[in-house]
Amino acid sequence: MTKRHLLMTGPMMRMVMEQLDAAYEVHRLWEADDADAMIGEISDKIEAIAVGPHTPVDDPLMSRLPNLKIVSNFGVGYDTVDAKWAGAHGIYVTNTPDVLTEEVADTTLGLLLMTVRQLSESERHLRAGRWETEGPFPLTKASLRDRRIGIVGLGRIGKAIARRLDAFRVPVVYHGRSEQADVPYGYYANLVDMARDVDILLSVAPGGPATTHMINAEILDALGPDGILINVGRGSVVDEKALVEALKTGKILSAGLDVFENEPHVPAELMEMEHVVLLPHVGSASVHTRNQMGQLCVDNLKSYFETGKPLTPVVETPLRD
Ligand code: NAP
Ligand code: 8YV
Repeated sequence: MTKRHLLMTGPMMRMVMEQLDAAYEVHRLWEADDADAMIGEISDKIEAIAVGPHTPVDDPLMSRLPNLKIVSNFGVGYDTVDAKWAGAHGIYVTNTPDVLTEEVADTTLGLLLMTVRQLSESERHLRAGRWETEGPFPLTKASLRDRRIGIVGLGRIGKAIARRLDAFRVPVVYHGRSEQADVPYGYYANLVDMARDVDILLSVAPGGPATTHMINAEILDALGPDGILINVGRGSVVDEKALVEALKTGKILSAGLDVFENEPHVPAELMEMEHVVLLPHVGSASVHTRNQMGQLCVDNLKSYFETGKPLTPVVETPLRD
């Protein structure tokens, strides 16, 4: 049986590669000496793209593939795929929602506690032998007690984080484009107002042009000198230069970051700050959860080619009759 042709833009998990190799003729773009020439040679054949972490699938690429029908994105965030363009051209884009929600929420609570209570710094104090030589690690200025958290992007993951914070008895409010009917948390239509009223701003909003630098110098000013920023959504949402400045000048107290503007690059100025917590985009990074994401990425393609309908299309490319 002849196989359909699939373009893979970057390396993916082995279990994904193995299943896709078995089912499709896979063209590995990153292995080509001349990616442009490779696309020219196979452009008519490609019916699907499987996209790994953070590789752009944009109008210039998709418009060269006249038979492209589906882009399967590994990850719930698909800001590197031009889904609007795909939708306008009858191409499905799928992502991997739900299967990672609880894992990312767990990681976020870890990052939050590490940041608020300076746990990385206190462990370094112990490992350097300073507990014995200098005495106990200093009391932390911040605490989750008597603090209010403002979530930016109360979606699937945001709600899973909020549920955990309920159990921690930490009050939650949120900001998004619109107020949600069935949530018990206070809504702020204006992000500056929310930043002013909370002690911790926690962003789990998607990337893309609509949210770029949504958290900027004005928001950080409003958060204030006791304020803490946690970002697990996308690095592009935060103006990193403004954040470094706010941390250096004490405009905010601290930050806990799992995502950065130009990954895997992390600004040296952030690296030098002892009290901020920096994680290498590990929100969903367990074998359990990444396997589920990988399987959904494969199953979206399988379902589309067997039934004409993918399992989890994104909002810009809804199911068609
Ligand atoms: P989701 O259910 O679609 O939730 C996204 C939320 O963001 C929605 O509540 C939406 O609310 C809000 N939002 C969207 N555009 C906005 C805007 N312009 N201004 C303010 N709020 C906006 O997605 P999810 O599954 O929770 O995932 C959220 C994001 O987390 C992903 O897109 C990804 O970037 C990130 N993520 C990171 C990791 C990691 O490893 N660190 C792992 C998974 C996901 P409204 O519609 O009401 O505005
Ligand atoms: C992954 C993510 O790290 O799902 C997302 O949006 O950010 C993470 O789960 C990424 O997509 C792939 O490595």
